[in-house]
Amino acid sequence: MELFRKMVETLSVSGNEEELAKLIEGEIAPYVDEITYDVMGNLIARKKGAPGAKKMMLSAHMDEIGVMVTHAEETGYLRFAPVGGLRPVYLIGQPILFKNGVRGVVMYETKLQLREVQMEHLYLDIGAQTREEALSMVSIGDVAAPYGTVFACGQHRWAGKSMDDKIACYILVRAIQQLRQTAYDTYFVFSTQEELGLRGATTAAYAIDPDYALALDVTGVGDMPNMSAPNDVKLGKGAAIKVRDSSIICSRQMVSFLKERAKAAGIPYQMEVLLYGGTDAGVIHTTREGVVTGGISIPARNIHSPVEMVDKRDVDACIALVLETLACELH
Ligand code: CO
Ligand code: ZN
Repeated sequence: MELFRKMVETLSVSGNEEELAKLIEGEIAPYVDEITYDVMGNLIARKKGAPGAKKMMLSAHMDEIGVMVTHAEETGYLRFAPVGGLRPVYLIGQPILFKNGVRGVVMYETKLQLREVQMEHLYLDIGAQTREEALSMVSIGDVAAPYGTVFACGQHRWAGKSMDDKIACYILVRAIQQLRQTAYDTYFVFSTQEELGLRGATTAAYAIDPDYALALDVTGVGDMPNMSAPNDVKLGKGAAIKVRDSSIICSRQMVSFLKERAKAAGIPYQMEVLLYGGTDAGVIHTTREGVVTGGISIPARNIHSPVEMVDKRDVDACIALVLETLACELH
């Protein structure tokens, strides 16, 4: 878990992914043929295929949700806007970390009932006594995220912040390190700004112009108490093969290929039908003339909270499924 813990603790709020990219680059550099960055900050690692091999793009987003300072009050409190889909209730009572190391806590205007609380009723207290002091510690436009880490929970589970989507970055890193040969000219994309609208994957897919693509991201599970949108995915029951989410109907060819690879290798898998949310797959599949695209998802509880939870057995199943898929030509 050491590498994953480092990835989780490295702040990468959308648009500020460079430190995490450097960490990932260091881990994968010995195992790939080319590493490039594009204007959007995407880290693109290529493992060359045999001449004439089709291009496969795999994408996992590096960015995490967070907050951005909008203004400072005379009292030293900071107000902020969300970066990505943060819920006020998940922020209240949270310790917060800025990129430059400044720490603080989030609280809400207690005159309000909890159910009335919107983002604009929250404030950040970084311990400053005046506006001047606050602005000497951080600047308007600085980003921060929940201050936390990842820890083992029970026999098989990990809990903590920004599993979305660092667990998929971790899966790609481990797959790259174990990769022998592939049936494709393979591009591993560690993408940026997914949480703001799949922005990094948009330019990366255009540049790579792949034949096939897979997005790796977390997906919601259906095994939590009194859920609003239950589904069939359960924590610990294997890699989730995406059929759809709000951004894509996956290529049926890709879905059956992934199922076949999982069955052939005895990898536990389950089918994912997600009625909300999107992934990088959403923009990749409509790139240029269209790309045969699917998704391998990591079942996760409490997505977009500071206490997301995944099952290590699902993580291992996803690594195995990526390797199996890359070993065999799509048909
Ligand atoms: Co997300
Ligand atoms: Zn995600």
